[in-house]
Amino acid sequence: METQPIRFFHRGQVRTVTDAPITRTVLQYLREDAHCTGTKEGCAEGDCGACTVVLGELQEDGSVGLKAVNACIQFLPTLDGKALFTVEDVRGKDGTLHPVQEAMVECHGSQCGFCTPGFVMSLYALYENTGSQAPIPSRQTICDSLTGNLCRCTGYRPIIDAGERMFELPAPAGIDRTQLADTLRKLQRNDTFSYAPVGTENAPRFYAPRTASAFAAIKAAHPNIRILAGSTDVGLWVTKQFRDLGDILYIGQVVDLYALQKRDGWIEIGAAVSLEKAYEFLAADYPELTELWKRFASLPIRNAGTLGGNVANGSPIGDSAPALIAIGTRVVLQRGEVRRELPLEDLYLAYQRTRWKKASSLRACASPHVRAAMLCASVRTSSRSASTKTFPPCARRWPSSWTVTWCAAHASLTAAWRQRPSARRRRKTPSLASRGTKRRCVLPWQPCRVTTPR
Ligand code: FES
Ligand code: FES
Repeated sequence: METQPIRFFHRGQVRTVTDAPITRTVLQYLREDAHCTGTKEGCAEGDCGACTVVLGELQEDGSVGLKAVNACIQFLPTLDGKALFTVEDVRGKDGTLHPVQEAMVECHGSQCGFCTPGFVMSLYALYENTGSQAPIPSRQTICDSLTGNLCRCTGYRPIIDAGERMFELPAPAGIDRTQLADTLRKLQRNDTFSYAPVGTENAPRFYAPRTASAFAAIKAAHPNIRILAGSTDVGLWVTKQFRDLGDILYIGQVVDLYALQKRDGWIEIGAAVSLEKAYEFLAADYPELTELWKRFASLPIRNAGTLGGNVANGSPIGDSAPALIAIGTRVVLQRGEVRRELPLEDLYLAYQRTRWKKASSLRACASPHVRAAMLCASVRTSSRSASTKTFPPCARRWPSSWTVTWCAAHASLTAAWRQRPSARRRRKTPSLASRGTKRRCVLPWQPCRVTTPR
């Protein structure tokens, strides 16, 4: 297959890359190839936020959506057709500081400075998405936008102050979204994007099909190909484990997999829908999941990661599965043109092992939208309140006629969701208390006590 260059918008022009390995990260490109060293590397695993950048993507309605992501775990070919904004882009053309920069200076929001570009970019995304004319967002909204950024010296108070102050300062010219949308439109491809570095033979190839049928055809032809969604887990296989992933099949350009709809009593969430959008959609019907949504990793991770990816890899830190199982979610699998559905709890065989055949892939998750006579709660336990790593999260639902008095520390719930189904049936699920949870911080999600018989 012919190789096409990676094309994206960065620093006012369309960049073309032809020679980068397919797993070169955006951060490596920025620092080593483009010499834009304002973006820092801290953890290289999506935890600290020092590498936060803003991506611009063309939306279905033709507008440009902006979102903060972690550059350290995004692979460069996934930028094809998108715009990349880094801390170097924030200042005005005449050198004037952007309100976020001005406010960080005024409020003393920077000390070591290493984490600062990441904070600036998260606040920049908030500013650009809110608009300078809109009311100042609440302090909670500002905190939510900073969940992906760690500061160990200044403390968060002055940074959050800066998040409020930036909306009081004179508005800058900002991003010309109409012009950007025109540029991005010209970069969109009609067919599968296929990339491998030029001048290399048998190098792994990156495929980004545009349609679900093209996706299924590539998967059927290459059953062992590595499927890539938000790269919030797979990215670490490269940056931490130095694994060779082979060929990659990227779902991020498959328009059909972005479906987000309610029909026939079901909420259907396409495999490429981001965690942020998926949870926002789910929480409208299941407000009990709002805290799970807000505590799930961080905003940059939820912006990049997908619900489908979270479900598909069966990782122990994939927080979604217990809650989705509790509300009766089913997964829709596709193999070639054939689709089949199964309950989510039947998908897992063991740690990171799932039931589907190699040639199959996840098409969507479907949760019941009609929830009469049902109460639901979920619990996440972790060593500190903002930790992305959790001990087995749990969830349960009850007939709403029950009166339930329940405390997380004594709960015996679905902690063993990753066990083999036969083992789950045979054995009583171990209680959280017996797993030593008492020694750890237990965070009850709402409601930790349900007493309302309906
Ligand atoms: Fe820490 Fe990317 S370097 S999140
Ligand atoms: Fe860098 Fe806080 S200013 S860690």
